[in-house]
Amino acid sequence: MKLKDLVLKTRSYRRFDESHRIEYKQLEELVGLARLSASGSNRQPLKFLLYNSVQDCARVFPSLVWAASLKDWDGPVSGERPSGYIIILGDKTIAESFGVDHGIAAQSIMLGASESELGGCMIASIRRDMLRNELSIPDKYEILLVLALGKPAENIIIDEIKDGDVKYWRDNEQNHHVPKRSLRELIIKL
Ligand SMILES: Cc1cc2nc3c(=O)[nH]c(=O)nc-3n(C[C@H](O)[C@H](O)[C@H](O)COP(=O)(O)O)c2cc1C
Repeated sequence: MKLKDLVLKTRSYRRFDESHRIEYKQLEELVGLARLSASGSNRQPLKFLLYNSVQDCARVFPSLVWAASLKDWDGPVSGERPSGYIIILGDKTIAESFGVDHGIAAQSIMLGASESELGGCMIASIRRDMLRNELSIPDKYEILLVLALGKPAENIIIDEIKDGDVKYWRDNEQNHHVPKRSLRELIIKL
């Protein structure tokens, strides 16, 4: 698949076919893509926690905040929830701050997920204390991002932005719409 098509396919999916389980090995392979990604000063301070069992997924899910812009939606219901998680941690014994490393790693993972017919959502709105307690994550690790993964079960449509409104929304058929700014708006000339 051409890179542009893969990027286009790599949307933020929040509803999944939860009956489709993800192999642990598949999560390991996705972290293999993060491993090969760029890292500031090549410090490579990121660590990864992988979860794929029904029981473990149920431990991660309550700590996540879904789709703040969809005010009347509380997140995926049982049966539509992710079937795997990759939690990206920053190892504070290696670096004090993590720059954009986790963003780069996350996108590599999400592109790899798309390539293998998975999808997911990067989640930064995390009840961090809750997650740390639930998973017994030591203090030396900063919780940076949770990548929720599964077999997507929603249709996402990219729209051109109207009147500067960046809010994503759902139509009556439950299609998820994501407004994107035009290239003309993004590229500035001084
Ligand atoms: C750094 C980052 C943090 C995000 N955190 C959340 C989050 O906490 N909850 C959520 O539902 N979506 C989250 N998202 C997904 C964004 O809402 C999504 O990228 C945006 O709506 C655009 O949709 P798209 O990814 O399909 O282009 C996050 C995305 C990024 C890049």
